[in-house]
Amino acid sequence: MTKTISVSFSYKEFENSEELKESDKQLIMVARKSAEKAYAPYSKFRVGAAVELESGLIISGANVENAAFPSGICAERSALANSISNYPNDKPVAIAIVSMNSEGITEDFPSPCGNCRQVIAEEESRIGDKIRIILSGKNKTAVIDSISDLLPLQFNKENLKVNLP
Ligand code: THU
Repeated sequence: MTKTISVSFSYKEFENSEELKESDKQLIMVARKSAEKAYAPYSKFRVGAAVELESGLIISGANVENAAFPSGICAERSALANSISNYPNDKPVAIAIVSMNSEGITEDFPSPCGNCRQVIAEEESRIGDKIRIILSGKNKTAVIDSISDLLPLQFNKENLKVNLP
């Protein structure tokens, strides 16, 4: 028998950033500051990410490009590599992402690339909890509950069928 399975998700979109909760506003501000510090001489597209940890600590990162293009790293992975390696036991609860082009903060909110979705998914799996994803554009911000929404049918350690610690 053939079954058609549909996958859908809903997320919150805020047109007025005043309606966001204080800690989200702060996270966006840090991501914005990080984007300003990106090293993106090739694409001129600067991205900043800020990870809020359970303790309240905020760890940020930006995209860092390279003349050998694939050697560059996105802001999300830059921030998460920092938080996971320095604070492995302090669980991320949210990640905010902001992008900038030559005109400043992009009109549309950014959306994490496939690689970054996979890495955020691994982090949710490592901590055994959801990480809220806050995508902030110039005039609107999206708040998504979990990376599972952006990466359905994801590949994870269950697919490897091994028992990892
Ligand atoms: N980029 C990010 O930092 N995060 C994403 O999720 C999408 C893309 C960076 C990679 C590259 O330095 C630039 O944006 C253009 O793709």
